[in-house]
Amino acid sequence: ATAHAATPKKPQVLNVAHRGASAYAPEHTMASYELGDKMKGDYIEIDLQMTKDGHLIALHDETLDRTTNGTGQVKDHTLAEIKQLDAGSWFNEQYPAYAKAEYKGLKVPTLDEVLKRFGKNKKYYIETKAPDIYPGMEEKLLCTLKKYGLTSKKSLRNGHVLVQSFSQESLLKMNRLNPDIPLVQLLWYDISGHISDEELNEVKQYAVGVGPNFDKIDRSYVQKVREHGLEIHPYTVNEKADMRKLIDWGVTGMFTNHPDRLREVLKEK
Ligand code: G3P
Ligand code: CA
Repeated sequence: ATAHAATPKKPQVLNVAHRGASAYAPEHTMASYELGDKMKGDYIEIDLQMTKDGHLIALHDETLDRTTNGTGQVKDHTLAEIKQLDAGSWFNEQYPAYAKAEYKGLKVPTLDEVLKRFGKNKKYYIETKAPDIYPGMEEKLLCTLKKYGLTSKKSLRNGHVLVQSFSQESLLKMNRLNPDIPLVQLLWYDISGHISDEELNEVKQYAVGVGPNFDKIDRSYVQKVREHGLEIHPYTVNEKADMRKLIDWGVTGMFTNHPDRLREVLKEK
């Protein structure tokens, strides 16, 4: 015991910059990630898709239509084709209050470029999206992480990488390929969220935590997950009142498009 033992240590709540600081800059562009970093998000969240020629890129949708001026499936386009696209102008049109001239013409980044830009001192929360249509995605992810020194014991111990997926199959594969990478099982509820002891015991076999949508869970859900010794990182929490409520319930992190707001809330206590 130390002389300061009477002061309880504040539990750490991870601030995950969802698609970067995506309320303020076009999601999954270098500008969005840079802003997430500047706003002191602990993690940059990256959704992965794979090009026709096998490159991992940072993009949320399986199609190019919503967040670029291209159309069609990512898997039907080469990286060279995708690099021609403008991944920023849509944001200026949709969110004029946050529009910036410099967002026009931003490129879709590869995972490789993001890891090169931020290096191994940053933390990455990476999602394997649609792994069923991208065979080999998990191997490529591991290979890219390794290239940037992010699979070393030290990096993993310090929490530099978390891999998340809605696909249990993808997480089990990651676990087989490298059992040292911490994994988070994403969950989605359309009605009141409930998780059984059996489900939690199963998740515990391969993951360190769960990531449910925040709007269908309650205090008892959070407590149950924590009692099983698992982390809980709900998504995507953008209002301060919701952030405060979830912190009070005992979540251990959350995804937000507003890492600046979460930082302010975390400073309140
Ligand atoms: O990864 C957490 C959250 O981002 C899951 O939903 O659709 O935004 O990737 P989505
Ligand atoms: Ca995601």
